[in-house]
Amino acid sequence: MSRTGARVERQPLARYTTLGVGGEAEIWFVETLEQLAEAMEQPYRVLGGGSNLVISDAGVPERVIRLSGPLAERDLTPDPELSTDAEIVTGWVGGGAPLPGLLRALQKLGWSGLEGTVGIPGQVGGSVWMNAGTRFGEMFDGLHTIEIVTPQGVRQVSPDDLAWGYRHSDIPRNHVVSRVRLKLRPSTPDAVQEAMNQADLARKGQPKNKTPGCAFKNPTLPDGHKVSAGKLIDEAGLKGTRVGNAMIAPEHGNFIVNLGGATAADVHALLGLIRERVGVPLELEYELWPAADAT
Ligand code: EPU
Repeated sequence: MSRTGARVERQPLARYTTLGVGGEAEIWFVETLEQLAEAMEQPYRVLGGGSNLVISDAGVPERVIRLSGPLAERDLTPDPELSTDAEIVTGWVGGGAPLPGLLRALQKLGWSGLEGTVGIPGQVGGSVWMNAGTRFGEMFDGLHTIEIVTPQGVRQVSPDDLAWGYRHSDIPRNHVVSRVRLKLRPSTPDAVQEAMNQADLARKGQPKNKTPGCAFKNPTLPDGHKVSAGKLIDEAGLKGTRVGNAMIAPEHGNFIVNLGGATAADVHALLGLIRERVGVPLELEYELWPAADAT
């Protein structure tokens, strides 16, 4: 236990990632803003749902912060002062709350706004930090207030106060999205489900397990067109290529999967191979820990 009561444990990080790769670190399970502030007194990293992340086999030397307890819960009660007939502004949703469970709850309530993010396995905080989404919608479509914690203190901002775009916000890496208030439109459970089905259909044929998700952002060609990185990797003939126990998915070129027992080194070797063989500069979508590993 830390001074403020945070649970602190040394553990392999692999189990907290969807890829299932990564060595050990000291994990701080923080449940309050006070515990979060204490965790931030020494060098730290913030772990979300671990779904867009490749952690080195040696782990990381910094503290790893994981939002837990109340900071992983959601209060979807509409705020009577902020909500109108046309717009629902919810109570606070913790940055550690899993996105899939949140979307199920919104579907049952028939509230529309975030259904384009269906199928993303991450947590709310990390998903906001990188504006996770699909071509059907993204996190910033449904945000009213974002609470951000830094070593200097806590601030609450509106999405308009930030610069954000395709899979990106300008929230710095070591700032924590502790909670958000959502901004949604009243609809019906059936209509929200239908929109979720549409977005889900586009994911058919993508691997869902033992992968961090898409490896590279879709690049914009010199003529201004955005192309699918997966398609480029496919056209380079790389689907099914294997290094150690990591493989470029046979189903979709932009996914690397862990066949069981893969290492971060295997994954980095595949990323390097893709960059070498695809003739277009590719920007990584994954977050790498530590960044010095970047290929
Ligand atoms: N395609 C191929 N071969 C492949 C992969 C794709 O020919 O190996 C073709 C498809 O047949 C399709 C086109 O390329 O005609 C686009 O493919 P897809 O619909 O899979 O979309 P994408 O642009 O490759 C984006 C997101 C995905 C998201 C899907 C569906 C990025 C980098 N990727 O992929 O997001 O799931 O749309 O909405 O933005 C992620 O962010 O982790 C992610 C996987």
